[in-house]
Amino acid sequence: MSSSSSSSFVALILLLLAMIGKGQGRVDVRRIPADFSIGTSTSAHQVEGGWTADGKGQSIWDNFTHTRADRIRDGSNVDKGCDHYHKYKEDIELLGEHGFDHYRFSLSWSRLLPTGRPDNVNRAAVRFYHGILDELERRNVTPYVTIYHWDHPQVLEDELGGWLNESMARVFAEYARFVYEEFGPRVRTFTTINEPYVNCYFGYGTGAYAPGRRQPGLGEYQCVHNQLKGHALAYRIYDRDFRARQRGRVGIVNVCFQYYAKYPQQAELAERAFEFECGWTSQPIFGPEGDYPEVMKKTIAEKSRREGRNSSRLPEFSPEWIEIIKGSSDYFGLNHYSAMLVEELPPGLRVDAVDVQMMTQDADLLKSYDPKWPGTESSWLKIVPEGIRDVLNSIRKKYGNPPVYIMECGTSDGNGLDDNLRVKYLHSYMQQVLLAKKRDKCDVRAFTIWSFLDSFEWNSGYTEHFGLVQVDFNDENRKRTPKNSMAWLKTVLQSRQLLQPISLLPKFDELKL
Ligand code: GAL
Repeated sequence: MSSSSSSSFVALILLLLAMIGKGQGRVDVRRIPADFSIGTSTSAHQVEGGWTADGKGQSIWDNFTHTRADRIRDGSNVDKGCDHYHKYKEDIELLGEHGFDHYRFSLSWSRLLPTGRPDNVNRAAVRFYHGILDELERRNVTPYVTIYHWDHPQVLEDELGGWLNESMARVFAEYARFVYEEFGPRVRTFTTINEPYVNCYFGYGTGAYAPGRRQPGLGEYQCVHNQLKGHALAYRIYDRDFRARQRGRVGIVNVCFQYYAKYPQQAELAERAFEFECGWTSQPIFGPEGDYPEVMKKTIAEKSRREGRNSSRLPEFSPEWIEIIKGSSDYFGLNHYSAMLVEELPPGLRVDAVDVQMMTQDADLLKSYDPKWPGTESSWLKIVPEGIRDVLNSIRKKYGNPPVYIMECGTSDGNGLDDNLRVKYLHSYMQQVLLAKKRDKCDVRAFTIWSFLDSFEWNSGYTEHFGLVQVDFNDENRKRTPKNSMAWLKTVLQSRQLLQPISLLPKFDELKL
């Protein structure tokens, strides 16, 4: 080697070392760090059943499924459901056997407090949830507890008008206080509210979900406004009265799709879509101003003026509320499933006329899917793994790299046990999450698969199967059978390596030997 070629060889090595130093080189994306928690999730209404057992009160979903069965695709309900209320020991044994780090579940407000308020505590319900915590402790699975996952007591809907009434915020905060007192000594990770966006948009905007109110353009805004207040009050109560003793973390869980502009020259539309969904419920908490995104405030105020209103349909926070809400979360709870394309809404076309779900009329966007994206059993869910990495990076950039707990991610995949689509989905999404963590330095700390059990999928009833475990709903005993994905996850959890699923390896006769 001449002296000039040897010096350029040394320079190349130094450059490579410098790149690795900056994290631009190869990183082992398969290794799952010891402090990265992997779990799976359910929610109370979707799995418990036992709808009147031991003094439980009625929730809005009990009422909705019984009185508006026409709005549930298969007319079903959760009177018995997966019967998790009676089978939780068996269920948690399965979680333990497969080595999950954590289990996310929610508390049924109407089971614990049948009147909605702590003036009447149902002790049988308290024992039930302590039973769950006992089993998790025995199996070494960490509990992540959601205080409210869409199923508030019907009595609060009847008395107050539910989340359309500002006083719900205080009633919710008192319920949260009761939860911290009772379960806080045993739980480190609390979520106040799951997905205000979906809950409010479908519950009080389109009416597709309980309580079935149809007030589009008004109801969803009022509902989110009050839920953000309720969340923030519950957070401040923990901060002031419990944090020092219980040393836990409290946060909110928001839904964030990834949006891509259908036409590259319209990149700003993807940003608008993000703000009207993820930003709506995230910016007030994680943004520097403690308020809704500018584009929402401006657009809705202008439209309201044109409609002859004296004030915007998007309510305003007072400076006092801004102070309470800003910074009221110890982590960013993220639910992410899929991506969508967006384009400008053609003039004269109403959003509801083209079956656009999950997009308010006010955003003036038309959404669609890239035909190249593989589909699933759910019409709204296409497989776009890079979307989760892009969303994690948006959260890092917009909100100052908060700790992110992915609280839901997963797919429906028919009713069979050979759920290879789910294995592919989880493998590719988890890979992207590890890339975001290791290469892009997104502070993501947990990945939670939706869902542990096949269960009641809201207005789709039992027609979509999100479970890692199949439940036989024709069997009186609701027999559970783990699907292939559970076996694959067990190897991943045991080895702490994101192993290539066997189903993704080339078939023997395809190998060029
Ligand atoms: C989420 C919701 C879950 C589950 C999931 C799959 O929005 O939090 O309860 O239904 O969607 O559709």
